[in-house]
Amino acid sequence: MTAAKNLAACLLMSYALSAGAVEANNHIRVLAASCAACHGSNGNSVGGTPVLAGLDRTYFVTQMMAFRKGDRPSTVMQHHAKGLTEVEIELLADYFAAQPRKASASPMPLNF
Ligand code: HEC
Repeated sequence: MTAAKNLAACLLMSYALSAGAVEANNHIRVLAASCAACHGSNGNSVGGTPVLAGLDRTYFVTQMMAFRKGDRPSTVMQHHAKGLTEVEIELLADYFAAQPRKASASPMPLNF
């Protein structure tokens, strides 16, 4: 698809959704992008961090709340979870649950 067609498709989708839904959707995409540095694009991690793509939404929310309360020990997630509202956590759970999980690309061994 050309860029122009992509743009047209996006505009059509924006008109189809209510303004509020579009705003919420953009907000969650921006938040999800901040997770990508560690969890990979669309939650498909290729590093040592857990894959979020296709994760069960109830499990996702439970883990985020446990990070927030400090019930689940973590290196970094406590800080990330504390910066999010409960609504944002619920919407991120929906977002990542809907992302297709890809077979992770194994990195080349360093000593080949
Ligand atoms: C700086 C790197 C980093 C960033 C940024 C980050 N995470 Fe994490 N995440 C981790 C690590 C590492 C773990 C494993 C637990 C730990 O040590 O904190 C983890 C674990 C998780 C888990 C538990 C997964 C499981 O299978 O149990 C969830 C859910 C999660 N992160 C969601 C998020 C979300 C949502 C964001 C963005 C708002 C995010 N993370 C941003 C590094 C990161």
